[in-house]
Amino acid sequence: MTDAANCTVSGGSPAQLPMVFPVEGLPARVRIHEVGPRDGLQNESAIVPVEVKAEFIGRLAAAGLTTVEATSFVHPKWVPQLADAEELYPRLDGLSGVRLPVLVPNARGLERALALGAREVAVFASATESFAHANLNRTVDGALEMFEPVVARAKREGLRVRGYLSMCFGDPWEGPVPVDQVVRVCRALAGMGCDELSLGDTIGVATPGHVHALLAALRTAGLPAAGPSAAGPTLAVHFHDTYGQALSNTLAALQNGVATVDASAGGLGGCPYAKSATGNLATEDLVWMLNGLGIETGVDLAALSATSHWMAERLGRPSPSRTVRALAGTASPTSSQEQ
Ligand code: HMG
Ligand code: MG
Repeated sequence: MTDAANCTVSGGSPAQLPMVFPVEGLPARVRIHEVGPRDGLQNESAIVPVEVKAEFIGRLAAAGLTTVEATSFVHPKWVPQLADAEELYPRLDGLSGVRLPVLVPNARGLERALALGAREVAVFASATESFAHANLNRTVDGALEMFEPVVARAKREGLRVRGYLSMCFGDPWEGPVPVDQVVRVCRALAGMGCDELSLGDTIGVATPGHVHALLAALRTAGLPAAGPSAAGPTLAVHFHDTYGQALSNTLAALQNGVATVDASAGGLGGCPYAKSATGNLATEDLVWMLNGLGIETGVDLAALSATSHWMAERLGRPSPSRTVRALAGTASPTSSQEQ
């Protein structure tokens, strides 16, 4: 039965929508780097029980996500929401065919991750001094010095290493962030041997022209989206949706050859050390757009959306994702989720 007011099929997804209209020049396939269990949950005021986290990750994998960032091995006082990393990680043992990267800020974090058999880690740098101080208690260069031996050791152990770079498009304390400043830190992370760089719009202020400009500057600096050679890092984008720009920015990145996009199921997220950072781009909103463009992701949108709905119930508030709400038939302002 069709609900004419919402243009959705009652109780479920719109039949056979979105229609598919490919656009020339975009990648045929996008790998979604799911960050909900880490970037999402690190910013929840409630501490989610470890068994709920494990089930969340299992459900995300079952929905077809092949990379799910599981947790962080940071100081537990800095991010208490993820203090259960040692308990959580072994619970994910049964998940096969899923990459489970974890954040490690320093040698101690890497030790903890290696002890549990992690195969993929991420260091996280800042393009600005203010955020480097707030997030890592270091200067920008001090943080890079801290990461250098971590990346080297991880590579020696055969791990895949991602280098995040935060505040690429603007900073809550410093305002505009010069493109050259971002390029400099990207080159430093690439020089250490990171396999992938994720360009973070931590507070969601980027606009599409800015994304084109940064990716063009990186290309000129020898860092194209697909990596200059087998040894060069590929580029990923990590948009937060604070100003509603995350999807437009993603499209701009795809037009520049980026084929790895970070997103968070249900739009969970933020960053505890940048108060103006709200949720990440919602994975469901991303998948809806990519489905319409005919770009493969391998993700089952209905299963993913059901997972976010399930998680929203556990968190006691509705998902901010427009797609999750629309698919649940709760897009109207008086939806049952919001009552
Ligand atoms: P510090 O206070 O400078 O640490 O914090 P330290 O090196 O001086 O060590 C102090 C104590 O902490 C020592 O213990 C260490 O052993 C211990 P003590 O000797 O006093 O007993 N310690 C640790 N314990 C457990 N695990 C560790 C660890 N390291 C040291 N790994 C530190 C420096 C880096 C540790 C701290 O600043 C920290 O943990 N920061 C993490 C902040 C964080 O996780 N932020 C969120 C992730 S970033 C993000 O969300 C942005 C992103 O999404 C992209 C975007 O959106 O832009 C990625
Ligand atoms: Mg983030």
